[in-house]
Amino acid sequence: MKPNRSLTKNLRPLCLGMILASLSASWSPAQPANPVTVLKISADQVAAKVSPQLYGLMTEEINYSYEGGLYGELIRNRTFKASPTNALFWNTVGGAAIALDTNQPLNAALNLSLKLDASKAAKKSPAGLANGGFWGIPLRPNTTYHASFYAKAKSSGGPLAVSLVSVLDTNNLKLSTPTDSKISSAYEWKLGEATLTLASAQVPKLSKKWQKYEVALTTGNVAPSKENRLVISTAKPGTIWFSQVSLFPPTFKNRANGNRPDLMQLLADMQPSFLRFPGGNYLEGNTIATRFDWKKTIGDISGRPGHMNDGWRYWSTDGMGLLEFLNWCEDLHMQPVLAVYAGYSLRGQYVKPGPDLEPYVQDALDEIEYVTGDTSTKWGARRAKDGHPAPFPLEYVEIGNEDWFDRSGSYDGRFAQIYDAIKARHPKLQVIATTKVASRRPDVMDDHFYRSSMQMQSDTHHYDKTDRNGPKIFVGEWATREGAPTPNMNAALGDAAWMTGLERNSDLVVMHCYAPLFVNVNPGAMQWRTDLIGYDAMSSYGSPAYYAQKMFSQNRGDVVLPVVCENLPTRDWQPPASRRGGVTQTNLPPLQKVPTLFYNATRDVKSGTIILKVVNSGGTEQAVHLEIGGVSQIEPNGEAIVLSAGAPEDTNSITEPNKIVPVTTTAEGLSAEFTRPFPPYSITVLRLKTR
Ligand code: AHR
Repeated sequence: MKPNRSLTKNLRPLCLGMILASLSASWSPAQPANPVTVLKISADQVAAKVSPQLYGLMTEEINYSYEGGLYGELIRNRTFKASPTNALFWNTVGGAAIALDTNQPLNAALNLSLKLDASKAAKKSPAGLANGGFWGIPLRPNTTYHASFYAKAKSSGGPLAVSLVSVLDTNNLKLSTPTDSKISSAYEWKLGEATLTLASAQVPKLSKKWQKYEVALTTGNVAPSKENRLVISTAKPGTIWFSQVSLFPPTFKNRANGNRPDLMQLLADMQPSFLRFPGGNYLEGNTIATRFDWKKTIGDISGRPGHMNDGWRYWSTDGMGLLEFLNWCEDLHMQPVLAVYAGYSLRGQYVKPGPDLEPYVQDALDEIEYVTGDTSTKWGARRAKDGHPAPFPLEYVEIGNEDWFDRSGSYDGRFAQIYDAIKARHPKLQVIATTKVASRRPDVMDDHFYRSSMQMQSDTHHYDKTDRNGPKIFVGEWATREGAPTPNMNAALGDAAWMTGLERNSDLVVMHCYAPLFVNVNPGAMQWRTDLIGYDAMSSYGSPAYYAQKMFSQNRGDVVLPVVCENLPTRDWQPPASRRGGVTQTNLPPLQKVPTLFYNATRDVKSGTIILKVVNSGGTEQAVHLEIGGVSQIEPNGEAIVLSAGAPEDTNSITEPNKIVPVTTTAEGLSAEFTRPFPPYSITVLRLKTR
């Protein structure tokens, strides 16, 4: 074995101690200790420039990401269109009956209404409709909620009571403390449940014509809870039709039709540079008719028909429409990465390139104009009318999503036609292809990876040798898929290892984003396991993988520094058998030696700070000797941000949201050469100040 020339003064006492200990124990010659891993960083050289847009977000309507997630709406199935046959998620109170009615539409978009038969209504038992939200309606103390609905009465109707009602399931109720029984005495007890009105307002009179009604509902000093309902009821017998019944809590930056603040804050903390939207499969739909048809997602929400998100199997009201995506970008200072529908849907329907595709090409051009056009343009003017006169910045447009699934071979032609039309009008726009094309040279290719932690760790050099003269790379979807509903620490280790490779290659990899971003953790809400951020109606949490993303994104640097490693620790790994044509092959691929230590170094040019990321995916502490050349001085105190876990399966959850979170400490004893132990199962960001 080569002598380890990089062992330094401060390691020698340790090695001598080990030798003496070993000698005294057995009187046999000392065994050589594991060779020390050395990282040599050249701080005065530049291996690559870090792409300024490297870290971003990918989003689509999956796992109740918007409905029952980021989008603030608290009423589930607010337009009654989730099922054509019954009023899903709606109940009655006071002996009322409800039914869908296609004969009394609000308009062409909301083409059915809910008919309330309140003929049995009485003062003592008002009759009405109730909605329990997306797995609960979260209510907080001293908070104002905005309820709105369209209604019309058969004959002079009203007044209507609009109430937020706390509901206790008395079958499972355990009253253990005196406070519990004091609270419960305020409730109205009925068979199976007890209710208490927490906030209420009146609509005095109803018109015989459709009209919008709005009330503010303010809670008092109530305990935060999600076991609540919105109830709209009348004490006067009659028939009333309802359309678009909505309830909004306070939203992020108080935007009307806006987003849930806790989730927006989790995203803001990641400091993302871009948002890839609206999909994913959600862009394509199972059929052309169920694609994300952006023109039906703009304007007042009462004019949006909504659509069946059949890719992920639930209704979308399209409350999160094109302008809402753009506002989201604006709120978090992200640039939009707009994916336009490109004539292919998941079940194989596609539009032939040529005249058939022309309407879709025009739609894509109109969409780009809606985003970027000034108010003298048709679609720029429409955006201004919708509430946002200023154009949004746009640099990247993606044509389709995962078109390698299109077995018709039509993508080349579809891409070329849309590409040419975009370039003719917007020559500076960077056009992204979702799979290989021959007839045009895409500016950027979108690559997707969903893998195990070991697969990620074994492939961190994926882009090292990629031709720098070809298209740039956008890793538009990727994740280490271990853990559900959210990734565990082993997944975070795979992610972080993978990100060291993306960052090192970020002259080529201009952007990347984890997917999926969100999951509602309630039973039945998840269609795709392993999602970055989890939540229920009341609270939310970041997974270990979320914190890995956040640590990397918050500590980027501007240039990649060359790093040479000696004695990289490895382990043996048996890659799984490959699958061909849906069949698992019997021959196993050869064993691989996979590192257990991953690293990348960057430098913040303005401050001179060196940012070193080290991932120890192994189960033992790993001492690394660091040698930093090309700087006159390293300050003795820097910063260490460490995410670590006791076991790779450890994770965060809705009940244990902060089990694994980064810990920031002062890193002491730093100099141009020092040795630092990296804990087992850990991700570390070291910030070294230079002079
Ligand atoms: O991220 C989940 C899905 O994975 C996306 O919708 C799709 O693009 C990919 O296959």
